Amino acid sequence: MAKLIGGLGTSHVPSIAAALDKGLRDTPDWKAFFDGYIPGQDWVKEHRPDVAVVIFNDHGNTFFLDKVPTFAVGCAEEYRPVDEGWGPRPIAPFKGEVDFSWHFIDTLVENRFDPMICQEIEVDHGLQVPMELFWGRPAEWPVKVVPIFVNVIQYPIPLPSRCYEMGRVLRQAIESYDSDERFVILGTGGLSHQLQGARAGFVNPEADQAFLKDIADNPDKLAAMSREQYVEMFGSEGAELMMWLVMRGAMDRDVVVRHKHYFVPASMTGAGMIVMENKEAAAPAAAA
Ligand code: DHB
Ligand code: FE
Repeated sequence: MAKLIGGLGTSHVPSIAAALDKGLRDTPDWKAFFDGYIPGQDWVKEHRPDVAVVIFNDHGNTFFLDKVPTFAVGCAEEYRPVDEGWGPRPIAPFKGEVDFSWHFIDTLVENRFDPMICQEIEVDHGLQVPMELFWGRPAEWPVKVVPIFVNVIQYPIPLPSRCYEMGRVLRQAIESYDSDERFVILGTGGLSHQLQGARAGFVNPEADQAFLKDIADNPDKLAAMSREQYVEMFGSEGAELMMWLVMRGAMDRDVVVRHKHYFVPASMTGAGMIVMENKEAAAPAAAA
């Protein structure tokens, strides 16, 4: 059966991609941010996952407000990076893991989740940026992707607890998938930011740091919070953070944090990263 080897969390701020496109990686504004991801990239090189399940939200690039699925799952051979208005970006199209996508959709429906099924769809910075942050800019991606789109834009958005439950179904789907592939799950979005309204520019570094601790040690607390509490604590767009709960819900109760990084501000956002492994699988005795 397939195996879950880790859970990664990261922001997906679009200016990160713009900084890479413009060759600004090593400038004073960006170097500390990007250097913080080096241990995460090393983890990926060492563990060589075959499949990345990426949980993210579309930002009006693929879906618009006329049609908004609460949960959507990609089951395509290929996902092209969508042009967000600045022209095509120099990154390769993402390869799909079609058979797993269908298996996951089937497992979701059996568990009373009914997602939108997308056989043809493009992916925006919500998926592009996390992939570049962990895998760099390969000519061809060494990992297949399964995109999961969560609506955190158009109210009513789903409950954080529902995202957490979806993660448990994702784990069930991975462990019932007849394959020897190694899976990682990426929860993306956040951390605190608000791009519009009276609190535009709001960031909350204390809450971000607490989130990075709780996502590992106390995920039940984060899953029990209301949507309003997410908006209040992390900003209207910072509510994206509830998507990390899909990744966390797929992991064991006890995890080991391998790497963690926090940087503020990236654009107008508190930017964070975490790399976790299930404690039991990570223990030396289990590995021997
Ligand atoms: C911005 C956009 C995002 O989708 C996000 O998650 C963080 C920041 C931005 O436009 O600055
Ligand atoms: Fe976003």
